[in-house]
This record gives sequence, C-alpha cells and structure tokens, in this order.
Amino acid sequence: MRQAGRYLPEYRDLRKTAGGFLDLCFNPDFAVEVTLQPIRRFNMDAAILFSDILVIPYALGQKLEFLEGEGPNLGPFNPDALAFDDTRLAAVYETLRRLRADLPADKTLIGFAGAPWTIACYMVQGHGDGAFNKAKIRAYKNPDAFDKLINMLVEVTAQYLIKQAQNGADALQLFDSWAGLLPEPYFTRWVTTPARKIRELVATACPGVPLIGFPRGAGSLYEAYAAHAGVNCIGLDTQVDMQWAAKALPHDVCLQGNLDPVLLLTGGKAMRDGAERIMTAMQGRPFIFNLGHGVIKETPPEHVAELSSIIREFRA
Ligand code: CP3
Repeated sequence: MRQAGRYLPEYRDLRKTAGGFLDLCFNPDFAVEVTLQPIRRFNMDAAILFSDILVIPYALGQKLEFLEGEGPNLGPFNPDALAFDDTRLAAVYETLRRLRADLPADKTLIGFAGAPWTIACYMVQGHGDGAFNKAKIRAYKNPDAFDKLINMLVEVTAQYLIKQAQNGADALQLFDSWAGLLPEPYFTRWVTTPARKIRELVATACPGVPLIGFPRGAGSLYEAYAAHAGVNCIGLDTQVDMQWAAKALPHDVCLQGNLDPVLLLTGGKAMRDGAERIMTAMQGRPFIFNLGHGVIKETPPEHVAELSSIIREFRA
C-alpha cells in the first residue's frame, strides 16, 4: 500500500521535475519508474501500479486536481454530465504493459481501482474529510438515485480492472477506503454487493486473475463481506486482530494485512513484535503481508528494509 510515494527520496526527487500529481499518473515513463523504485530498493514480491483511484472520476469527465499539501479536489458533481471516456486511461494501460515487460516473471504486478462507494464519496463531496457526511446524506435521502450512481461505477470499474488485467496486471485490488463509514443495511447495498458484481464481471472476462477486496474499517462486517463479496483475497485494516481473522474468516480466502503504518514509522522491537504477531496468526493459510493502510511520509526507508528482512526470515 503506497509502496511508492513521499517517504522515498528518489520519488521526491523525480516528483520535483515532473509537474502535477495527475500528470505523473498519466506519464508512463514516470509511472513505470516510480512503480519500480520500491522493488529495486526492497525487492518486494509484488509491485503495485503507480496511479490513483481518482482517475475514474477524471475519465468520467469530472474535473480533478491535486493541490499541494491538500489532497484531491474534484469539480462540481453533475451526474447527468458524466460519460466514461476510456481513452483518458490509455496511459495507465501502457504503464502496465511496460511494467509487465520490465518486471521479472516471479514478481506479481498488482493493478487497482477504487471501489464504487469510496469513489462516489469523493465525486459527491469533492474532497476527502474522513467523514463524508455530504455524500452519506445524499445517499440516505435518495437511495434509489444513489443506486444508479453505484451501478454505473460498478460497470466502469469492472471495465477498467478487466483492461488492466488484459494489459499485464496479474492481480487486482479494489480499495474501499471509506467502507467503514456505512452501517447496515447500506454496507451490504453499497460495499458488498458492488464488490460481488465487480468480482463476477472480472472473473468472467479474465478467469484466474485474483481480486483483492479491501473494505477498510468494516469491523464486524468483515465476516459478511468475506462470505458474500466472493473476492479471492480480503485486505484487513490495522484495527482487525489477525488472531480473530484467522478463526472468523473462511480458510480458503487469502488474507492481506495489516501492520499499523505507525509501527513501520516507529521501527525497532515494536515493529518486529507487530509483524511477528501477524505472521504467527496467519501461519498455515494463504496470506499476503501488507500494512493496514498506506506508508506514512515520514517513514524512514531503512525501517521498510528491516521489515522486509523480518518477513523473509520468518518465512524461511
Ligand atoms: O501504493 C502505491 O504506491 C500505489 C499507488 C497509489 C496511490 N494512491 C498513489 C498516491 C494507490 C494504490 C492509491 C490509492 C488511493 N488514492 C486511495 C485508496 C487507498 C487509501 O489510501 O485509502 C485513496 C483514498 C486515494 C486518494 C488520494 N490520493 C488521496 C486522499 C491523496 C492525498 C493523500 C495525502 O496524504 O496528501 C492522494 C495522493 C497520492 N496518491 C499520493 C500517492 C503517492 C501522494 C502524492 C504526492 O503528493 O506525491
């Protein structure tokens, strides 16, 4: 998660020369290079495409800019004006083709998209504030209209993920960063059901390409998500206890997670203990070691190197 990014000096150096963040996402030379930077440094088993989840609203025609130090800002939400233009994403597909050609065969290339609920949050509200009450109020007031938006995003997201697989992604991840904001029955309606539909469309078009679902903050609803979304792998956020997950979630589903990014920032014994606790709980089942959320920008790269040797030692 956020393997590339501001904690790496080589990313910051390149970023200075290359213009706005969105320009970087759509510049294959840059995107290939920053995807490979963490792999060169730390030799991870998988590379995640350098892009952003918000390229989907952009491809739908909604204005998008990333303001320095402020995160994303979207233009006014006008559902009638939205039209998906896949040619706006051509650079992402080219980046994936080049990455798959450049990466050794034993490295997995992960493509990704934002899940419909999280994308709808940004589209409706225009910026992230962690609560998204404006988006929730719109959804709760007129759930049928909101279904239309979600269903449109299901179609577009599935199409986008399928094209990523066709252009070289070996696995796909669906980031539902704000899933934890929805209680039942809305969680099922706008998180689990859309994930299941996307999974079905992806599985039909590209059988054998696994889909990782990450309903961040789902809490006790992780169980229902695991049972009904039909994804091959479930990403767990920092708050989920892996000892609980090992018992509660189906054994044939791969789990991914979930070291607290602050432990990576801290380093030392706290980081080692945290990583070992997770790996001990996950022994004997399909598992992908990851953070529970993105790398914090102040994280010393040496801590990432140390963490990767801790994981390799444990696995050996
Ligand atoms: O992990 C990777 O290196 C892959 C690339 C990746 C980025 N964003 C690059 C990025 C991925 C997988 C994402 C996903 C993403 N983007 C999510 C879902 C995961 C999560 O974090 O919950 C979300 C919600 C976004 C939207 C987004 N993009 C926000 C809110 C921000 C601002 C964050 C901040 O701290 O300012 C971004 C910017 C962004 N996306 C950066 C990177 C490397 C930082 C850009 C920079 O200033 O250089």
